[in-house]
Amino acid sequence: MNKPKRGSFGSKFGAIAAIGGSVVGLGNIWRFPYLAGENGGAAFILVYIIVSFTVAIPVMLSEFAIGREAKRNAIGAFKKIAPASFWPFLGSLGIATALVIMTFYSVIAGWSLQFLLDSLLNTFDGWSAEQVKQHFNHFAQSGYTPIVWAIVYVSATAFIVISGIEKGIERYNKILMPLLVLIMVLLVCYSFSLSGFEQGVRFLLYPDFSQLTPTVIMEAVGQAFFSLSLGMGCMITYGSYIKKQENMVHMAATVALCDVSVAVLSGLMIFPAVFSFGISPTSGPELIFITLPNLFSQMTGGYLISILFFLIVFIAAITSTVSLFEVVNAYIHEEFSIGRKRATLITTLMVITLSSMCALSMMANSPIRVMGDNLFIFSDNLASNFMLPIGGLLIVIFAGWFMPKPILEQQLTNSNTVNKRSYRFFYIMIRFVSPIMLALLFLHISGII
Ligand code: PHE
Repeated sequence: MNKPKRGSFGSKFGAIAAIGGSVVGLGNIWRFPYLAGENGGAAFILVYIIVSFTVAIPVMLSEFAIGREAKRNAIGAFKKIAPASFWPFLGSLGIATALVIMTFYSVIAGWSLQFLLDSLLNTFDGWSAEQVKQHFNHFAQSGYTPIVWAIVYVSATAFIVISGIEKGIERYNKILMPLLVLIMVLLVCYSFSLSGFEQGVRFLLYPDFSQLTPTVIMEAVGQAFFSLSLGMGCMITYGSYIKKQENMVHMAATVALCDVSVAVLSGLMIFPAVFSFGISPTSGPELIFITLPNLFSQMTGGYLISILFFLIVFIAAITSTVSLFEVVNAYIHEEFSIGRKRATLITTLMVITLSSMCALSMMANSPIRVMGDNLFIFSDNLASNFMLPIGGLLIVIFAGWFMPKPILEQQLTNSNTVNKRSYRFFYIMIRFVSPIMLALLFLHISGII
């Protein structure tokens, strides 16, 4: 019996929309603003941008090359390119990382649905800052309501993934990503009219280099990897759906540009509002769920702005979760020869279980704790500070030192038809620059340097 044909992205725009959908996510709209706010703004942002275009793009190219060469899921790809070696283990690390990220990611994305509903119902109208804070804490710690939202959210993700690569993932990203950019641009235009706009722009654009401590630099490096969906096989999986005539170097550069632009746009959307109301930008992970709803309720047009804002948080999140979900889904589907629909069902049940446990662990006095933290903090730390940097380091070492060189060359030059010069540049980046930078990051995170 012939194997059914493997899916691929139908068009260049579709591929960029899908990969762009993966990179642009809560990392840009939730994590980036609060980290930039905590770490002094422009200097942090500058490091994040430089790292994205220097160290991170080579990792993305390595993942694309591995995926497109093997045309398999994250584990299958290593099995095919480096059989009888320990490398497939790296794919397993990627699958595990995808599950760890989805554990907390689906919960936060579920919150965005609750806040979207609250915005539609105009719940926060006339509320004080304290009331919004209590509402958020009560909701986030209530356990069961966040679980219901996480289930709704994960089911919506599964609905997109179940229809396949071109008809599901690509199709929805082609609609959702332009919509996201359009709404963001509208919200940034609105930001122009706020009294804190200038201060917001200064915070984002004028670096104060005295703020650049080693920890800030390392946080910015970690953020670049999280935000570009690197280090866990997501780009191996999506790379395996890229057609052979597409120019991967252009694609990686375009996607990195989208990621950085959306992060800066979200800064332009959020900080002017924060400064207009004289609030400090350092409120941490709660920035968009406590500070912003409070601001929206005081703004002219705040009702509509609030709805649009939580709508884009949801859109950004779901297009990223689709890619995380597909990492696990493709693995189950291909390595166990299980039909795509059944694989999606299995993945859905796993993610719902994990995210429900995460939501439960946030309840006051919950017994679900790992190393003293609730699952939310634990899984975010484990993935961002540990699994992604190790994964990224090993992937780039594999591509630069262990994968046969002609494969890398063939993939990055589309069999010598494009990019000969940029290939030489990226070969050096992949072999030397990225691994060294990542090794430094990891040593720092683990407290060795
Ligand atoms: N890049 C996504 C974001 O910015 C998160 C993500 C990480 C997605 C790793 C896939 C893989 O939100």
